[in-house]
Amino acid sequence: MLSSLIYRSHIQQNIDEEMIIQMLADANQKNKQLGISGLLFYDAPFFFQVIEGPEEAVKVLYEKILQDTRHSNVVLLTHENIKFRQYPNFGMYFVDIKNIKNNDVTLDQYREENNLNPIDNNYDSKSEKFIRQFIERKYNQNLHKAVSNVLKPFSHPDLKENSGFRAVPPNSHSFAFQSVIDCNKRKTVFLEALARPPHGDNIEDYLAKLSQSEFEQFDMHSTEDAISLAAQLGIHKISVNFSPNTLFKSIDVVDQIENLLRKYGLQNSQLIVEVTESDFIENHPLAQKIISKLRSSGIALAIDDFGDGYAGLSLLAQFQPDIIKIDGSLIRSISSSGPKQAIVSAIFYCAESMAISVVAEGVEDEEDFQFLKSLGITQFQGHLFSKPEINNYIEHNWGKN
Ligand SMILES: Cc1cc2nc3c(=O)[nH]c(=O)nc-3n(C[C@H](O)[C@H](O)[C@H](O)COP(=O)(O)O)c2cc1C
Repeated sequence: MLSSLIYRSHIQQNIDEEMIIQMLADANQKNKQLGISGLLFYDAPFFFQVIEGPEEAVKVLYEKILQDTRHSNVVLLTHENIKFRQYPNFGMYFVDIKNIKNNDVTLDQYREENNLNPIDNNYDSKSEKFIRQFIERKYNQNLHKAVSNVLKPFSHPDLKENSGFRAVPPNSHSFAFQSVIDCNKRKTVFLEALARPPHGDNIEDYLAKLSQSEFEQFDMHSTEDAISLAAQLGIHKISVNFSPNTLFKSIDVVDQIENLLRKYGLQNSQLIVEVTESDFIENHPLAQKIISKLRSSGIALAIDDFGDGYAGLSLLAQFQPDIIKIDGSLIRSISSSGPKQAIVSAIFYCAESMAISVVAEGVEDEEDFQFLKSLGITQFQGHLFSKPEINNYIEHNWGKN
């Protein structure tokens, strides 16, 4: 099986032209032995490479390329099986874009002169589209800027345990509070209350065993517990997860939530209701009404696990939530995935245009964090910053500046 792999990367600062020439000579020779063909474009300081060949050989070569210290910020754009090679004639043809620019020719003219056209002249192929984007710099300039930033080490705030005071829930539910931080404002914006079932059970397994009425009871009781714990711990803003069956059951739910807030002395503005994207997709006739009542009462709405369901951006137009939390599956390894970068930057751009706050969830890796930050995202949740704490929370110590 043949496959084609395309990536872009940044040359390391200390690599000069002579070193590139040597690298190309070695690569050409090796590619011939491995049955690999392709093109390498260089538009200082960026590389862009198309590799074609037997599936296993391409995989093994890419592993080596990833480890190569002559470049960094390697971002995979696509890797797929192909029927035939587009560029079979070259071990590794190198194109320095400045030669095209200096000679003032178009890409097509340059390719014609250098016999560089793809084998089937199929200008609609993915590799051709990527090549054009790279050469014409039509790709998202922000992404380019984003990855071109030298990765600065993030100075993690030291975690400061609070007093060790453990709050006691009125019913039987424990909660783990996990902070959502704003790295620009250098503060915790809110804490998510994550329900923790008794005996250390897994929450999903626990909820799956409940009947419909037990589930609704769990939802309302646990909401009360979360609000009561937040009040005891002096938490200024919490978010609570709701199942759609509870939240969209009747319009009275909003009054019940407001009553709970009042009972424990919290303002409506101190609560964020989180509903997952996939829960919105199931058609709930009262959803629109309940959401608008909720929001007119001053309680905020967050769409959780955004990007995990299929509703997507249309949901933003329909409900215009206050916050979206981008699902961890789109966040993990984003620093090396072109498709994830494209999707998350589009989501962020749309949300920004609608004045919706964006939280990146499940951030566990420094490079992912740096990439997201360079896109403009400022709010983060994940183990890189804080781990959930049972019936308590850990406050960041942001230091002096
Ligand atoms: C931008 C860039 C492109 C590369 N392209 C190839 C290539 O097409 N073929 C190749 O064998 N090595 C290529 N290399 C070099 C590999 O990373 C690696 O050094 C080489 O495969 C030798 O590995 P080995 O000595 O462990 O066998 C490239 C390196 C860089 C930085």
